[in-house]
Amino acid sequence: MTTRTDPFHATPTGPNAMVIFGAGGDLTMRKLVPALYHLARHKLLSNDFAVVGFGGRDYSDEVFRDHLASCIADHVDGELDRDLWAWLSERLHYVQGKLGNGAAFGRLGSRLDRIDAERRTGGNRLFYLATPPEFFAPIVAQLGGSGLVSESDGGWRRVVVEKPFGHDLASAQALNGALGGVLRESQVYRIDHYLGKETVQNILVFRFANGIFEPVWNRRYIDHVQITVAEQLGVEGRGRYYDGAGALRDMVPNHIFQLLALTAMEPPVSFEAEAVRNEKGKVLQALQPIAPEEVITRAVRGQYGSGTGADGGGVPGYRAEASVAADSETETFVAMKLLVDNWRWAGVPFYVRTGKRMPARLTEIAIQFKRAPFMMFRETAVEQLAPNTLVMRIQPDEGISLHFGAKMPSATLQIGGVDMDFSYTDYFGRMRSTGYETLLYDAMKGDATLFQRADNVEAGWRTVSPILDVWGALPARDFANYAAGDAGPSAADELLARDGRRWRALA
Ligand code: BG6
Repeated sequence: MTTRTDPFHATPTGPNAMVIFGAGGDLTMRKLVPALYHLARHKLLSNDFAVVGFGGRDYSDEVFRDHLASCIADHVDGELDRDLWAWLSERLHYVQGKLGNGAAFGRLGSRLDRIDAERRTGGNRLFYLATPPEFFAPIVAQLGGSGLVSESDGGWRRVVVEKPFGHDLASAQALNGALGGVLRESQVYRIDHYLGKETVQNILVFRFANGIFEPVWNRRYIDHVQITVAEQLGVEGRGRYYDGAGALRDMVPNHIFQLLALTAMEPPVSFEAEAVRNEKGKVLQALQPIAPEEVITRAVRGQYGSGTGADGGGVPGYRAEASVAADSETETFVAMKLLVDNWRWAGVPFYVRTGKRMPARLTEIAIQFKRAPFMMFRETAVEQLAPNTLVMRIQPDEGISLHFGAKMPSATLQIGGVDMDFSYTDYFGRMRSTGYETLLYDAMKGDATLFQRADNVEAGWRTVSPILDVWGALPARDFANYAAGDAGPSAADELLARDGRRWRALA
């Protein structure tokens, strides 16, 4: 087991070959290859490195390289460094084959053996499943059948699995079972790209590298927590996938639960993968189960109708998007009230919401503290004073701010709300990254801290299952119930109003 690497003192990965299944797709072009380029720029890839794209397209190595060369400049930070690209490009290879075809996996194996000899990649292999999810289990079965994931020769073999990891608890369990039949758990790297975001990783650092917050990080001082992942975009050509998934499956058991777990977890005994994942897992297991009859009071669904898009122009409603059913019941917004049943958090609601076509793009975690026990400042009505709130801004304006009351300059005693604000860009400058750099680097290093363990994924699905079941059985009669550009349906406001609370403004 390795420990987390300090990025400022990071050493290059060891020799390895990365195999990308679904290499002709968007993820490879927009994220994976640009992330490899950024790693190479920071000298974090071994010189003994190669990529093998595997897919159905009739590509040669040359055509694969040209295909990626034609778009790499659009996806990397700054101007493309031609020498660096040449370094990476000559390490790109392609094997044409169908995902279910055993002979193609045989060809892949021979090619990898040749690459081991030519590029000294040492027999270490990272298999990256960048395909639609229905291929995950069949690919792993083929890898197992062709002996490609056996580590008996001393090299390491790891498999990175993209999301979505199942579409409900049963399918996630089945997928874990299929992976477990071929691989050891330590060979499986379930990716959640939110954990690749610097600001998400910083939640741990903020909480556990600083002594001043932990004493107040509990039910005695915290009134409630709001986690918001708002997007301004609609479904952007992904209607076919999205209409079968919906906002709950797409965002909650994965990205939002990761944010929640990092916010609520106990301090791990070390930063080793198992220690961190154990503590995250305990939070997910402590999420109070939502009974079917509670779904109506604990969860809200919404679907956008026509309205205003990010640029202020008119946009169509969800049901008019390409590849979306004209009478679709799929939700594009979800809000939930969650409770973490443990000593630290008993009775502290975690309100979470996410949606498409919101008024702003904004991901944040807001910790709202309890009010001062006694308000002696009569001039300022207590209810006018916003309570102390600590906001961890994940994107786009990355930073952390603390809201508190201060005396306004005046002859009488008046209190105004002010912010103490830390901005990432001001301190560290802005560097474009895909969010996949750390994750790829860690997978090549064998550090699974930022990847999801089987039990963690299943715990997430377990919590949302009753909601999926109830919503699946009861059509939403009021869809579309918010206009594009609005902050979700009015029922989301009522969810908090019932508890005497309000959502933070989105724009
Ligand atoms: C993906 C979802 O996992 O995350 C998308 O499938 C969503 O629907 C995206 O848009 C959001 O990621 P980010 O990094 O843009 O916040």
